[in-house]
Amino acid sequence: MVTRRQVLSSAIASTISSAGLGVDCAQAAEDSLSATFSKNNLYFGSAVRIEAVVGNQDFRDLLLRECDYFTPEVALKWAAVERSPGSFNFTSMDALANFALANKKRLCGHTLVWHKSVPQWATSLVLEKDGWKFMQRYFQAALSRYGHAIAQWDVINEPIETGYRMDGLRNSLFLQAFGVDYIARALWEARQLAPQAKLMINEFGLEYDLRVEHDRRYHFIKLLERLKQAGVPLDGVGLQAHLDLSKGTLSADVLGRFLKEIADLGLFIVISELDVKEHEYILPVEQRDGRVADETKRYLDIALAQPAVRGLTTWGLSDRHSWLQVTQEDLARYPNAWKDGSTPGPNRGLPLDYALKPKPMYRAIAESARRRR
Ligand code: XIL
Repeated sequence: MVTRRQVLSSAIASTISSAGLGVDCAQAAEDSLSATFSKNNLYFGSAVRIEAVVGNQDFRDLLLRECDYFTPEVALKWAAVERSPGSFNFTSMDALANFALANKKRLCGHTLVWHKSVPQWATSLVLEKDGWKFMQRYFQAALSRYGHAIAQWDVINEPIETGYRMDGLRNSLFLQAFGVDYIARALWEARQLAPQAKLMINEFGLEYDLRVEHDRRYHFIKLLERLKQAGVPLDGVGLQAHLDLSKGTLSADVLGRFLKEIADLGLFIVISELDVKEHEYILPVEQRDGRVADETKRYLDIALAQPAVRGLTTWGLSDRHSWLQVTQEDLARYPNAWKDGSTPGPNRGLPLDYALKPKPMYRAIAESARRRR
């Protein structure tokens, strides 16, 4: 009997070979990203919104075929679960957790402390004298509910912002309310509630050879050093890796050294949110896809060379579900294009296209993992 999985696998094979992607195609198609990654001692995962999975059997099957890990794209964030004080709604996260556990997949706990996901009611309350109790209540609700299911938590998300403070810390509501120690405090709180879990800090804007990203890397490493020196429970680091074709060069030296500095602190690393923002939407689709794949390859060849890297998560599996949008600014760069009413379509920065067909980026990811051996 031909299983649904085999049908999908051969669909991937034929798409890849009809796209003329070369001799390794059959191999690339046989092995899912999950299989390729695990052979190379890595995991592969994707951010997921369970609402996009329900009722979409093909997408569901692809997620199960390709991924070992799922990251809730939204469902665990504070503003999503505690819309009114003390009243928690985990419906969406429960559905994702059930989906993952029923299929023997793992989950990343994303994310507890993020300045962009504070419930509106909390913005004034956390500033009051005993404001920490609101953080505690959310931590308690999330960590105790998923303690059995989630072994890896992004406790802190995006704490760095350069250009404002000497220490490069973001002047977020958390910093204003609890001082610079909010990071250590949150990690200790999480350790107490989930003693076995791996606790992490997740950050963006650490990839390119740009002045601002040099500064961000510098402050990020300094933060990690301070936390380790103080014995704060921090186990790993998530590097978001939202790549961007307008940002210029990825330097193997600079990036390799940065990854090594993290590893030398005894921390493990995951690439936690990979995708590629396009720039030249005017190019033919094949060229757009080629640029996205090349950038992915450039980045992963550097990143996966660092032995402390344990896995890769893409921020969605298919362009259909990407948070990256073609902006008005992108369109304004080509005032004479798409006059016939057509559009550039979606940003093409994820492994599968809008119709869930694999693109060159899919193969670039698989090959980078294979080269790691
Ligand atoms: C994004 C989601 O993809 C969107 O759907 C949501 O509206 C906002 O958050 N860095 C992160 C992620 O750590 O949580 C963000 O996810 C993308 C940037």
